[in-house]
Amino acid sequence: MLVNDRRPLSSTSASREYRGTVLALLVAAIAVVVGSTCEAQQSPASKKPPRPERTAATRAVAASRLRDIYRGAPQSWPPPHVDPGIEWHEIGLLPEVIHPESNPVSMEKVALGRTLFFDARLSSSGKLACVSCHEPGLGWADGRGVSEPRGKGPGRNAPTIRNIAFQSAFFWDGRAASLEAQIEEALTNPAEMDANREQVVGLLARIPDYRKLHDEAFPGRPIEFAAVVEAVACFERTVVGGRSRFDAFMKGDAAALLDEEVLGLDLFRREARCMNCHHGPPFSDGRFHDLGLSHHGRKNEDLGRYRITHDPVDKGRFRTPTLRDITQTSPYMHTGMFELGGVLAMYNAGMVTLKRQPFERDDQEFPVKSPHLKPLGLNRQDLADLAAFLATLEEPPRGMRPPRLPGLEGPPVSEER
Ligand code: HEC
Ligand code: HEC
Repeated sequence: MLVNDRRPLSSTSASREYRGTVLALLVAAIAVVVGSTCEAQQSPASKKPPRPERTAATRAVAASRLRDIYRGAPQSWPPPHVDPGIEWHEIGLLPEVIHPESNPVSMEKVALGRTLFFDARLSSSGKLACVSCHEPGLGWADGRGVSEPRGKGPGRNAPTIRNIAFQSAFFWDGRAASLEAQIEEALTNPAEMDANREQVVGLLARIPDYRKLHDEAFPGRPIEFAAVVEAVACFERTVVGGRSRFDAFMKGDAAALLDEEVLGLDLFRREARCMNCHHGPPFSDGRFHDLGLSHHGRKNEDLGRYRITHDPVDKGRFRTPTLRDITQTSPYMHTGMFELGGVLAMYNAGMVTLKRQPFERDDQEFPVKSPHLKPLGLNRQDLADLAAFLATLEEPPRGMRPPRLPGLEGPPVSEER
């Protein structure tokens, strides 16, 4: 029987330990780098002392005032703290998904796409399906540091595919301009599923139940690889959120958020400066920024967007990820090396400033960290409030029964989630 390979691809306990060590080293490095003066790529951020903590009573008063403000119309909210020139959009409820004219939605197409998404027989090994790395029960990510099925090169963290319908550039480096192009690559990339087009078409043609699903989805169309891609894209566009506690609050349930979460919401929009990049209903600007995580000139170097555009300003830039469901998609960043506490601590310090190594001293193209990152001076309460707010973006769990795969008996993927 064909089953998905459930072994973790690279998240052994050793790699977890490694991540822990890396995190500790990085936090230590921030302390050094933030305070140091020479060799940093830009004038090093001066340390900002944390603002004083507040008493429970003062926090309760502030939360009640903010609750009154944020339960009102977004137009009446205080302006977010964003730098001049940032074209920001307010955070809020997700709009309706717009399916492209070239790939309109139908229930039959979604049904075929969902089945294909779960089917490991599309891969050359017969062991890897989309769902192996984008699991509904893991926020449609995979819980691993990086997904590197073949152990080649620096791998990247698998992002969630929920709310992918609202992005316009796909992958961490934005190398795919449409979801259809993204899926074609995910399917055929030798480092991923390594699918063979003829084999995939053969699979659908050979199995009567698959042929039936296909013919219902694409009446009168011959079975072809492009149709497979369209069906999967169509299915992915139906994987959307909108039922989080944050959404309930936005719909008018003022009690949906606790005091600390309301304080966190205000911090997110203002003092923590997150809205410079994580804005709009999906909490992503769809743009590319350098957070200082490129490992430039070191082992595991990943120059992100530069690998696509070859424009030096893009060195180290990665697309801003959504923050919806963030509590389910740990570990974080394209490197998959951080937990949420570490991420927030790094933002509070103004992020890592990569130090030039001696041989990089005169490198005109040394990656430049985003100017929108600045030391924030938040205290421990603030960081906890911010984390509490981010947790309100989580969709309530909704089990997704794996579809029955044509030509196989019983569901092929384990049902523990
Ligand atoms: C071996 C694990 C693995 C498999 C299998 C896999 N993916 Fe991914 N997926 C990833 C990783 C890692 C990335 C990020 C890669 C990058 O940005 O370079 C990604 C990125 C994506 C993205 C872009 C997300 C974004 O925010 O831009 C989508 C959409 C996606 N995958 C869908 C799929 C589909 C559909 C399939 C099946 C055809 C699939 N994936 C199979 C690991 C996997
Ligand atoms: C300059 C733009 C920018 C600002 C400001 C910013 N972010 Fe980010 N954020 C990004 C980018 C880009 C990434 C991905 C970076 C990478 O992987 O190299 C990211 C990643 C993250 C992640 C990890 C997401 C994942 O799926 O791996 C979290 C959590 C996060 N940001 C939260 C925040 C919070 C909270 C704030 C405010 C304190 C903030 N960000 C401010 C651009 C920004």
